[in-house]
Amino acid sequence: MRLCFASNNAHKLDEIRPLLPAKVQLLSLNDIGCHEELPETQDTIEGNARQKAQYVWDHFGVACFADDTGLEVTALGGAPGVYSARYAGPQRLAEDNVAKLLHELRSHTDRTARFRTVVALVLPDGTTHEFAGAVEGRISPELHGSGGFGYDPVFVPVEGDGRTFAEMPLAEKNGLSHRSRAVAGLVAFLGEK
Ligand code: IMP
Repeated sequence: MRLCFASNNAHKLDEIRPLLPAKVQLLSLNDIGCHEELPETQDTIEGNARQKAQYVWDHFGVACFADDTGLEVTALGGAPGVYSARYAGPQRLAEDNVAKLLHELRSHTDRTARFRTVVALVLPDGTTHEFAGAVEGRISPELHGSGGFGYDPVFVPVEGDGRTFAEMPLAEKNGLSHRSRAVAGLVAFLGEK
């Protein structure tokens, strides 16, 4: 089964590839000739995941799935949430986003947070399906580690041993992460097909 992953984020592709069964031939946006920025204009992560997958289906006619992720910080009322990528501005720089997050949290003692991912799938028959995953954690006061991407250097999962996602090898992050949990739902669903 040929399935495109509708993302330009190479880190996400690296995370997802080992989670998929052999029967899935994973295609990148590049592989299907999609070189444009995918639209992400909805105000929920569910809506954005659906919009990205639907865009690829509508314009390229390839079965595909897209993910969208939000970091929900309790002390910030769930922010940055759906705006996680643009938290510090339209340039979408991870370094700036993390710096802003640490600044906003500087006087808060509650540092609990969760990553939430929704994966939206469009099948060759045009039907859509969604799968969700989440991981609870806390925001560390400083950056630790050089792996992963985005907010990984400050996110400490509660089920871990105190290290951030950026301090873990990819397989270990995949054992706990929001994205791998959402992809597990996708894989179970594809197994029934
Ligand atoms: P999106 O799903 O690519 O729109 O991601 C929204 C924001 O969350 C971006 O700033 C990403 O860098 C960040 N993000 C998404 N997934 C992860 C992750 O697994 N770890 C850390 N940051 C992430």
